This record gives sequence, structure tokens and C-alpha cells, in this order.
Amino acid sequence: MNKKLLTAAFAMSMTLASVAQTAFIDVNTKKLGAPIQSTMYGIFFEDINYAADGGLYGELIKNRSFEFPQHLMGWQAFGCVDVMDDGPFERCPHYVILSDPGHNDRRTGLINEGYFGIGIEKGEVYRFSVWAKAPKGDGTIRVQIINERSMEERQELVEQELPITSADWKKYTVNLTSPQTNKHAKLRIFLKGSNSVALEHISLFPVHTFKNRENGMRRDLAQALADLHPGIFRFPGGCIVEGTDLDTRYQWKNTIGPVENRPLNQNRWEHTFDYRYFADYYQSYGLGFFEFFQLAEDIGAEPLPILSVGLACQFQNWDKESAHVPLNELQPYIDDCLDLIEFANGPVTSKWGKIRAGMGHPAPFNMKYIGVGNEQWGEFYYERLKPFVAAIRAQYPEIKIVGSSGPMPDDTPDNTYRFEDGWKAMKELKADLVDEHYYRDEEWFLTNGLRYDTYDRKGPKVFAGEYACHGKGKKWNHYEAAILEAAFMTSFERNADIVQMTSPAPLFAHVDGWQWRPDQIWYDNTDMFKTVSYYVQQLYATNAGTNVLSLTMDKKPVANQTGQHGLFASAAFDSKTNEVIIKIANTSKQPQPVSFNLTGMKGTRTAQTLTLSHSGMDDENSICKPELITPQKGTIQVDEGKGASILLDDLPPMSFRIYRVKK
Ligand code: AHR
Repeated sequence: MNKKLLTAAFAMSMTLASVAQTAFIDVNTKKLGAPIQSTMYGIFFEDINYAADGGLYGELIKNRSFEFPQHLMGWQAFGCVDVMDDGPFERCPHYVILSDPGHNDRRTGLINEGYFGIGIEKGEVYRFSVWAKAPKGDGTIRVQIINERSMEERQELVEQELPITSADWKKYTVNLTSPQTNKHAKLRIFLKGSNSVALEHISLFPVHTFKNRENGMRRDLAQALADLHPGIFRFPGGCIVEGTDLDTRYQWKNTIGPVENRPLNQNRWEHTFDYRYFADYYQSYGLGFFEFFQLAEDIGAEPLPILSVGLACQFQNWDKESAHVPLNELQPYIDDCLDLIEFANGPVTSKWGKIRAGMGHPAPFNMKYIGVGNEQWGEFYYERLKPFVAAIRAQYPEIKIVGSSGPMPDDTPDNTYRFEDGWKAMKELKADLVDEHYYRDEEWFLTNGLRYDTYDRKGPKVFAGEYACHGKGKKWNHYEAAILEAAFMTSFERNADIVQMTSPAPLFAHVDGWQWRPDQIWYDNTDMFKTVSYYVQQLYATNAGTNVLSLTMDKKPVANQTGQHGLFASAAFDSKTNEVIIKIANTSKQPQPVSFNLTGMKGTRTAQTLTLSHSGMDDENSICKPELITPQKGTIQVDEGKGASILLDDLPPMSFRIYRVKK
């Protein structure tokens, strides 16, 4: 069929509103292009928005070791409660002593408020544990999960007595089964009798965590990560890698070993925005580097840890001397990198490999990538990164190093952020990948579809390590932003020879405790929802393909160029399933007829489709309507054309569609 006839056939079958010209798109299925790396679509975790404590990490008790600067923050103490600082765990020395308040009608005890409450689910078992001692070797506590808000006669939902039988520190455990689902329960402990008890590291954990690990992750949230099928898992941040100052930078060595002895760290996001201020935002490090590596393994992603380069957050510190480790004092930071590689990959006979084995993972984690510096820029960064690169190359030449091009995707007019200089420096230092960050508005996403087509193919590869469409004046997870992300992502796929890793940001947000939006996954204490952006990521990751195919319109890439009707598109071949996978976004407000000419394919067949289409541009999923907007499955007929199969379709306005066609 020639183009004229096709257009006529289409015009007849369409409504008045959809009289746009057909877009004729050529897909060459004969010639395989660049391989698409398995790391292409990934996730980036940072403890922002209560993503770790209060989020993914299963612990339900806030300030479980009484190490917050206000030692009883998160706790309500009543009766006779003393805070002590000579406990059994060197790096978490604080604990409490509950004593007899002196006369019968008073009580002694503690209530923990959790993170915006404690979320419990009907029928689930919660493991209460505590390190305790009773000076007389004979004390008892009553452990309750309570609902203070209830009109019921009794506040306690479930209670267990726990005898403390030793005068020496010992761990005690008791299970509590919840009779109801409640987002805002609390934990209450009463001292029973008159013998005092000392309590340390008071923990309440769902028994049923992701993969049932004892120090594990909240099941629904970790499952949502697994369902994304991420190829790469970047952790632990973000700005928290750098810290507000050097003292509060993320130090991975503080995050391994027994959880009771992991020192507390201030969270850099506690105070960042005073309009979203959370005075109780700290990092317990219960979710530490061992758990990150294990989670990466559990969800099948390559781990990509990012470590401090010896610069505290540059946004907050600018030229402050104290925020830069002098060049001749960098060695401990470099050692942290080398030791981490040994922790992840070293034999059990090595110092750090032995610690990993002691934590339950004798096999190496097989880490292949390391990032040095989060979102750094300028000479301060380049001169510090240099000795790291030299040391890592000398000892671990097989490890790929990720450097940064700073916080902006381009040079800023005032030259504060010099993106181009960043790339130049990374080329000179021979970084393997360069981490780019862009939080940009709709216009940027609509006009940057060709961003990577002109990149130098001889230098480092691209890691689009943080990006999101921030709607102008809206900044939330609305449908339109997600479609523009989907559109822009076709440029990743088309340029898979140079773009080898990507991850949107941030990943998680607690609805009651967020500091930054949009985010991929939102939750409260019992429920969660996936944003439309999440579904975009999932669609890409589960329809990635193995090789790029050429897809053009008038011999040009389809990236919203002049005459392309707001279309963005790319194509891949999946050698595992023998399918051609086409991704196309219609970013116009009109329906758009399209005709794909599938060179190299003959005959008819039925193709599978996956579509995101919705009319309300500002609509979003939510806790109340978690599935308002989700991808829909369908099928479409592929016809016999002149010398090639042909696929005709009519794309809804502002939509994203994937076709899977058996070759
Ligand atoms: O994703 C939120 C923050 O954005 C990250 O911590 C930082 O790297 C970037 O500025």
C-alpha cells in the first residue's frame, strides 16, 4: 500500500477530532544495533522522605536505642524512667532503667510512637525484642501494642508478659499477633512489680519481612522494587552520602555488624526544608550496607554503592574549608572505598570478607561498580577524585568507576555549575560512567529528546542517575509528567551504546513525612501505591529488549522534531523472545495515527500492546485510588504491506504505548 492510500484509509476510519496526519515510521528489524545493557533501567535509593527508617526498613520503633540527641525523643516516659549511658553496646551506649515509682497506684513505663504511628496488620505476627537485665535477676515487663485513639474499653490490642530473668545483659524476644489493622498503633511497656529492669535496643519487627529476613525490609515496599526488575541499584544516596558536614557523611563501616552497635547519624534531610521540618529524622543504619547488598541480590540488581569523595554537601557548604578534606588527608576515605570492595567481593579469609561472611554471606556479592562522590562539581571534586581512581585502578582494575557531572544537566548561565567541565574532567580521569542529574520541567523533557544523539562515543558512558519531570508549579506525580518521562526515555534506548544506566529519583516517600516530590513509590504505615512514573519504569524494564533497532521518520530519529507531531519513539529487538519491541509516546493533545513499516518482517500476526492513556493530565494515583492509572494490555493486528509487515494504529492523546511483535 502506498502512503497516499494508507492516509486515506485512516482518515475514513477516524473520528473528526483525529484528523492529524499519519506519521510514517520505519523500523528496520533486519540489522541489530547496540546491545542494551542489563543495567539500563535501575533504581536509586536514598534515605529521604523516611525511605529507610519509617519506610523500607522493617523496624517499627523510633529511637530504639535511645541514641537520639534528646534521648527520649519518640518515647513517652512515665513513672520512674532514667536514661543511662554505660550500656553494653559501645557505639550506642544509652539505655533506660524502669524502676518502682514508689507507691501502688502509679506506674512506670514507656510508649513509643513509631514513625507517624506504628502500622500493624490483622493476623500478622510482630516480634518484640529487647536487651535487658534485672539487677535482682527477677523483673517483668508487660509489652503491649495499643490503640490510644480507640473508643473501645481497653487500649491494648495485644499484650504479652516478658520475664527478665538475668542480672546480666541478655536479649529477650516475644511475639505479638495483631488482632486488627491499624496505621497509628503504639508500643507500650509497663514495668510489672517493684523490681527494676534495664532496657536497651527495644525493637518491634514484622516477622514476615521481604524474604523473611530477621533484620529485613517491609514486604510490600521491597516487593514493589522487585517488581520493577531493576538492572542496577544505586545506594545509599544522594546528598546523604556527602552529609551536611563531613561528620554526618554516610560512613558505610558504621552500618555493618550487629544492629545494636551501629551508631546513629543525623539525616541530612532532617532540616533541609523548614517548611517540611522533621526534628526526629535520623539514620539508625539498621538498613546498612550489608542489607543493601543483600537486597540488590534479592531483587536481581547490580549493586552500585556511592561513597564520599571527601566533600560535604556542596550546596550547603560552598567554599567552606571545613567541608573539604585536605588532599593530603584523603587516605582514610580512599581506604573506605578499597575496603568496601573487599567487603563486597573479598574472600572470607580477607579482613572485610570475613566480616561479610560473619554477617551471613560467605559468597561474594560480586560488585562491579562503585561511585565516588554523589553530585559533586568543580576543581574541589576533580582533584579529590583523582587519587581514588588511581588507587581503585591499581588494586581492582575490574571495578568500573562512576564519576559525577554535578547537579545540572547543562552549564548554568552564571557558570556556577559547569556541566561541560565535569564531563571533560571525567574523560581526563577516565571514569567509566558519568552520573548526570536532571530535575526539569515539561518543556525540558519535550525538547531534549535528542540530548544523547550527539554525545562523544569515545568517552565514558552515561549514567542518568537522578531524573524526574517536575511539573512547572506542580511538582507532584501527575500523569502528564510521567508521560513526558516515558517520552524522554526513548532517547536512552535509542542511544543505548552510550547510555548504559538510568535511575529516576527519588524512589520512596512516606505520605506523612516527605521532604521532596515527585517520587516513585508512596506509602503510609500499612498501604502503598505506585505512581504513574513507577509504571513507566516498570514498562521499560520489563520490555527492554537486548539490542537497539533503527526507528526513524523521514530518516530522522523520532524525538518530537519538526513535523513529528509530538511523537517520541524507539525500537529494540529481544533476542531471548525473538520479538521486536516498539515504544512510542504521543505527547500531543490530539490522537495521532501512526504507520510502522517493519522492514525485515513479512506476513500478518497479532502483536501485544501495553498502554498508558488517561485524560486528566493532573491526575495521579494515591493511597485512596492506588490504581487510578495503570498500564492496560491489548492486542493489535500486524498486516501484510508492500515488501514488509505494517502496523497501523491510532495513538490516544498524551499516551505511551509499547508493541511486542513476534519476528
Ligand atoms: O533526589 C534528591 C536529591 O537530589 C539527591 O539527594 C541529590 O543527589 C539531588 O540533589
